[in-house]
Amino acid sequence: MNERKIVLGITGASGSIMAKRFLETARAEIHLVISSNAGQVIEYETGLKEEDLKKMSTFNYDDRDVAARISSGSFIFDAMVIMPCSMNTLAKVASGISDSLITRAASVALKERRRLIMVPREMPLSRIAIENMLRLTESGAIISPAMPAFYTRPQTVMDMVDFMVGRVMDLCGIDNELVKRWKSEERD
Ligand SMILES: Cc1cc2nc3c(=O)[nH]c(=O)nc-3n(C[C@H](O)[C@H](O)[C@H](O)COP(=O)(O)O)c2cc1C
Repeated sequence: MNERKIVLGITGASGSIMAKRFLETARAEIHLVISSNAGQVIEYETGLKEEDLKKMSTFNYDDRDVAARISSGSFIFDAMVIMPCSMNTLAKVASGISDSLITRAASVALKERRRLIMVPREMPLSRIAIENMLRLTESGAIISPAMPAFYTRPQTVMDMVDFMVGRVMDLCGIDNELVKRWKSEERD
């Protein structure tokens, strides 16, 4: 399979460990944007600086730079992933607001009918958040919430992270060994 070209947006929701794991393990060309509110969450949750994550990407962009190449429909990519996705970013994209590079690139993904995978993390969910998710789904986005499975009998937090990140990679068409597949020992 050819190397996939992925735009990865990291926003200020909890769960930046998922983005770190994606950057560590995805065999893909990754174009990374970190929202201005995500930095403090990344540092609090992982002890890493934004710069540490940027070094793990292929290319990185400033979220304020709405003129970066990924802001244009002429930039061809296989999928855009927003992980973790805050309710704030979810609401903006659902409303057509594109006042940052992440929200602009997401709006472009929708208008160009490209794959947009959003990984929201919040609980419980307000009616507004649920309606935003419905609106985005109806507009072509894939809502893939940060929800671990338990049938895989996870032993560690990283087992849960790997399951969620692996499923996102599946949606991006990236080969991965992170997901423990249901009945994978059975042969056809
Ligand atoms: C430690 C921490 C954890 C947070 N976790 C969440 C969360 O899980 N989900 C969420 O929607 N917002 C969360 N927030 C709030 C967002 O960071 C905030 O709404 C911010 O404005 C999002 O901006 P962005 O969408 O530009 O990244 C968290 C904030 C902090 C400081």
